[in-house]
Amino acid sequence: MIQPVILCGGSGTRLWPLSRKAFPKQFVPLIGGRSLIELTLERVRPLASPAEGVICVGSETHRFMVVEAMSSAGVTGSILLEPVARNTAAAMALAALQAAGADQLLLFCPSDHHIPDVEGFAAMVRAAAPCANEGQVVTFGVVPTFPSTAYGYIERGAARADGGHAVARFIEKPDAQRAQQLLFSGGVLWNAGIFLCKAGTLLAALEQHAPDILAQCRLAMAGAKADGIFIRPAQAPLQACRSESIDYAVMERHGAVSVFPFGGQWSDVGSWNAVADMWPADADGNRIDGKGIAIDARNNFVHAPTRTVVVLGTENLLVIDTADAVLVADRSKAEQVKNVVAELEKRG
Ligand code: GDD
Ligand code: MG
Repeated sequence: MIQPVILCGGSGTRLWPLSRKAFPKQFVPLIGGRSLIELTLERVRPLASPAEGVICVGSETHRFMVVEAMSSAGVTGSILLEPVARNTAAAMALAALQAAGADQLLLFCPSDHHIPDVEGFAAMVRAAAPCANEGQVVTFGVVPTFPSTAYGYIERGAARADGGHAVARFIEKPDAQRAQQLLFSGGVLWNAGIFLCKAGTLLAALEQHAPDILAQCRLAMAGAKADGIFIRPAQAPLQACRSESIDYAVMERHGAVSVFPFGGQWSDVGSWNAVADMWPADADGNRIDGKGIAIDARNNFVHAPTRTVVVLGTENLLVIDTADAVLVADRSKAEQVKNVVAELEKRG
């Protein structure tokens, strides 16, 4: 059986003003009134054993939003509450230490991705399970479409008999020039950010490549306190833990990594343009969510859940209306929305 682990402690800043520190992207009702974490939990539900359920790892601050998402998705399990966020290496280590045993297969999933084909997803994970049972860390690869600097890149090695490949090299978030080179070299895949491995495999890999992170997480779990479905790791060891993503800490360095092709639609909903792409375009390329209206306008995206918002004669704009803030941005600047958050923080 597979135990899904949902990583929900990130604070996306590229979907401001909808996504805020207190209300990050994974909790925002983004798709037909459902949040990405709810949809993620529903997607992993068929894979989870009802006895163990899922493990969610997130922030103390968001615990009730996680509970609500679990109940609306109809999944049971436990919630590991991080007193401080220490990125994905620590979050995954905490979950692996919480798991039932070294042989438990864990499916680590980001909570903020959009993957509409639920059955295809389960089939893909099941096909990769034997490889993970062999002691490999399994990644899932998406065919890249542009030289993004926001993803990990996977160079494939030898083909396996089960449809997977050995990973020859894992390159996390290359700079623009390197990303171009990788894309032109052909055959590389984007890392989808989903990992399948035994709990013991991950702990051994951390022991080898990031023993300091594992040691702090062991201390944090040794001092953990359970409170119903909440599990609270001890604060001091986590506070002292190095903050690094699993991609830099383990994936770039580890030998026994495999990749399986990701079949189906995948989006990490990393910017407003990615959200826009989830809506159908009208004849002029405008995409409208809610009460937006486009007149004599082209290629705009309007998010207007409550008020009428009209774009007249504009091109390539993102217009995001919320109760207390409005974003009007050129679509080519979608990646820079995170700078808005930094600027607002500076201004207090
Ligand atoms: N619990 C917890 N604690 N969760 C966290 C933390 C943390 O400290 N930091 C991040 N997460 C969660 C986020 O909420 C998200 O769901 C997931 O872990 C991945 O973190 P991101 O910060 O979104 O990673 P990324 O998008 O920069 O990069 C990863 O995903 C890409 C695909 O979207 C990497 O794995 C890349 O290689 C990959 O291509
Ligand atoms: Mg991400």
